[in-house]
Amino acid sequence: MNRNLALEFVRVTEMAAINSARWMGRGDEKAADQAAVDAMRAMLDTVDCQGTVVIGEGERDEAPMLYIGEKVGSGNGPKLDIALDPLEGTTVCAVGASNSISVMAIAEEGNFLNAPDSYMQKIAVGPEGKGLIDLDDTPANNLRRLAEAKKCRVQDLTVCVLDRPRHAEIISQVREAGARIRLIGDGDIAASMACCDPESGVDMLLGTGGAPEGVITAAALRCLGGDFQGRLKTRSDLEVERAYKMGIKDIHKLYQIHELAKGNVMFVATGVTDGPLLDGVRFRPWGATTHSIVMRSQSGTIRRIQAEHHFDTKPRY
Ligand code: FBP
Repeated sequence: MNRNLALEFVRVTEMAAINSARWMGRGDEKAADQAAVDAMRAMLDTVDCQGTVVIGEGERDEAPMLYIGEKVGSGNGPKLDIALDPLEGTTVCAVGASNSISVMAIAEEGNFLNAPDSYMQKIAVGPEGKGLIDLDDTPANNLRRLAEAKKCRVQDLTVCVLDRPRHAEIISQVREAGARIRLIGDGDIAASMACCDPESGVDMLLGTGGAPEGVITAAALRCLGGDFQGRLKTRSDLEVERAYKMGIKDIHKLYQIHELAKGNVMFVATGVTDGPLLDGVRFRPWGATTHSIVMRSQSGTIRRIQAEHHFDTKPRY
């Protein structure tokens, strides 16, 4: 994959972030998401690639744009698979809370798991925990191994968990183990990435979130040197059927990070609302500023891009 492509793709998330940030705090999740989708869809066609959306807004019959299987890009250039979420954290954006991002992961054809739109049980850690996690083990044992690797006590570790009733058991197990907890309303991609940042105050992510987000998280953590495991958690027979239709052979399989996102992957994200990972969009009299992260697993380079967008001179897409 041409490394310059990563910088082309960040223009896509920048534009999606700017469009959806207009809807921040306006209480309309649908409009915020649609604004991000429209901008991402239009911008994608400016990128020289033969892209296929493998993780997107849903099945063709339920999502008119950025649906799974949709062809995107200019039609010239490499064949790529694209896992995207134009607005990760729609509720967050609609209420003006922190941590919504526009995000895309890119790989050569066939390198992402074609995950159905079901849930996924997840565990994520930063580089120190690489090779030490086991989704089938107890939170206490995973935390003990991470504490040893980080040369600290379990009491010093913080686990990020989505604030959902389904996580009552995990929360009580983590508390029993002695670790601290940060409950978040939404956004487990950014929360998993935070495990790789020593300044974030988060050491591990546990719990069940969206499966598509799990694939994007795996790509991000491949670039950041962290570790991730996931297992699909279907909620209905229909979801099971969909999973098989999408090529999943074993619905109970425990996926390692490399099985979710293989080969060389790129990851780009732009902040929509402020978060520990990325600042949100700021509107200025002349346009807007954005804050993005661009990463490639091959080089391990992490670029943070602060951009000024001058609306007067920006081409129309
Ligand atoms: P959206 O972008 O679809 O709003 O997803 C936000 C999110 O919090 C994800 O980060 C997470 O994986 C998923 O929702 C959790 O699902 P649920 O809200 O059903 O618990």
